[in-house]
Amino acid sequence: MTVQTFGSSLPSMSGAALSPEIIQLKFDHPANDDVEYQRRRGLITEVSLRYREGEPVPRVEYTEAEDEVWRTIGQRTDAAHARFACQRYRDAWAELDLDRDRVPQLADINAVITPRTGFRMTPVTGFVSPRSFFGELARGVFLSTQYIRYAKTPLFSPDPDVIHEVIGHAPTLLDPLLAELNRRFGRTAIRVDDATLEEVIRMHWFTLETGLAIEDGRPKAYGAAILSSPQEMEHCITRATLRPFDIEAICGTSFEPTVLQDQLFLSESLDYTVATVSAWLDTL
Ligand SMILES: [Fe+2]
Repeated sequence: MTVQTFGSSLPSMSGAALSPEIIQLKFDHPANDDVEYQRRRGLITEVSLRYREGEPVPRVEYTEAEDEVWRTIGQRTDAAHARFACQRYRDAWAELDLDRDRVPQLADINAVITPRTGFRMTPVTGFVSPRSFFGELARGVFLSTQYIRYAKTPLFSPDPDVIHEVIGHAPTLLDPLLAELNRRFGRTAIRVDDATLEEVIRMHWFTLETGLAIEDGRPKAYGAAILSSPQEMEHCITRATLRPFDIEAICGTSFEPTVLQDQLFLSESLDYTVATVSAWLDTL
């Protein structure tokens, strides 16, 4: 999931009023004119809406074409992660040991991460408000989409899909240090005023979504939006401006989550980032 700060593009929470036959994409999306994709996304949304607190996450029967998108992304990200992902992320990813042939189910991921860190990934149908997202995060719930990105543009998705959740976020919910940082973002966000919340949103975006840290003398990614998109990783290496990690600079920098990122923040190490951001969150 990615926090969306400028209005909800899609029905957001379980139980929301919804006409699920066709999901209309209300921002610049490569599938804006593809009614079949939108209809399929609506069907998956219907599955997500069946979720009830305390029950296992409903399973989606992904199609062969959707499994093929998963395989394509998996092959591309494996190679990229080997040279461009932080070790802590890679260790957690290896431990998840997900099926490489079929789109993973949130229920199966929960069976691995919940006993370790207490986190659960539960379904949501699209962008959610910051208050909703962080409120759930505070109690160890990570709101996750179940629909899958557009097959004609698999290397980058403008909005969070199940591949983003699974490749980008699931490892950070399994690793105890990063899971605690996720939870700390939630705990802080639910107690601050709107102006401070905007800073928390930016800090979350420029760390757990798009963060980079030096490792073995090179920039490595630990942010979910970067690690779940082969195109974003390539863009980040070749085109993006890497700015020095700085709390004040991050709080003063706006972002647009639906496009490739042109500026990112690079810290001296992932451990430094976690310690610094945690200390900052505790002061708010
Ligand atoms: Fe995300």
